[in-house]
Amino acid sequence: MKIRTTLRLSGSALFLLCASLLPLLVGCKLPGKPADGPEVPRPEEVADFDALYGANCAGCHGAKGEWGASMNLSNPEYQALVDDARLRDVIANGETGTLMPAFGIKHGGMLTAAQIDALVTGMRTHWSKGNVLAGQNAPTYKAVHEGDVAKGQAVYTSVCAKCHERQPDKGGYAGSILDGSFLALINEQTIRTTVIAGRPDLGMPDWRGLVKGRTLTDDEITDVTAWLMAQKPALPGQPYASPVKSQTAPQPPQAGK
Ligand code: HEC
Ligand code: HEC
Repeated sequence: MKIRTTLRLSGSALFLLCASLLPLLVGCKLPGKPADGPEVPRPEEVADFDALYGANCAGCHGAKGEWGASMNLSNPEYQALVDDARLRDVIANGETGTLMPAFGIKHGGMLTAAQIDALVTGMRTHWSKGNVLAGQNAPTYKAVHEGDVAKGQAVYTSVCAKCHERQPDKGGYAGSILDGSFLALINEQTIRTTVIAGRPDLGMPDWRGLVKGRTLTDDEITDVTAWLMAQKPALPGQPYASPVKSQTAPQPPQAGK
């Protein structure tokens, strides 16, 4: 009862106020009247970096561009290594051979060119610290020639094995990067980017900190990448060393055995 009176009072007070100021306040808004336009922005109209990144990228790359399953995008070294064109390309077209999806409308994604630009600009303003690689003689983002597999094996043994071990089933403290299922989910660029920019969030040093006393060379990175890619199994995920010949599907183990 009381509430209703108050409402009616405030309603009529407002009416009086509006009426008396009518000549001045053209278009005085009634309480509760929705603003012009749709109440929820259309998906293609969202232009805010946090909203776009949170809805589309954070699940794989981490809430703040770190501690995700995939690349540490907020790493300033990564931001210095990669150019805008490549960022736009990866977001729009995805990354072949990895789980990075294509977000461009042309590929069935949901992001317009303007939204992809907003993501690139947002990443730069949030995470770039300028050209932190200037004067460091950093390897190029993309490999400039084919790698030498044999030389790459030697690089793996002397540099990577100390943290990643030599056997696919023994990961060492940093986990196995020889595991077939892991190799099946990454491509050359994943390895190259990881080795050059590191994964500071997960404790992997960049190319300057992997060998004591010197930096890793561009050729060493190209070669070790070639060797790792050559370890990709033909049938990733197969629990058997060779393809199963029988036509019957493997049976799950029975309870209690
Ligand atoms: C389903 C998981 C997934 C989602 C969602 C995802 N990514 Fe990725 N992204 C990956 C994977 C996997 C890679 C390739 C492997 C790597 O580089 O770690 C990758 C690679 C990238 C790279 C290239 C890294 C390099 O090597 O230079 C960029 C840039 C990138 N993603 C940005 C984004 C942005 C921006 C979004 C949101 C619009 C996004 N990703 C959403 C999984 C994902
Ligand atoms: C000083 C130790 C160390 C050395 C040496 C090292 N890594 Fe790593 N690496 C790490 C750590 C730590 C991680 C993160 C592991 C995790 O938590 O997933 C990692 C992760 C990776 C990943 C996976 C990145 C991802 O996004 O999941 C790749 C690929 C990789 N390292 C490649 C290499 C290669 C190639 C070499 C040799 C050139 C190398 N690493 C040498 C410590 C090292």
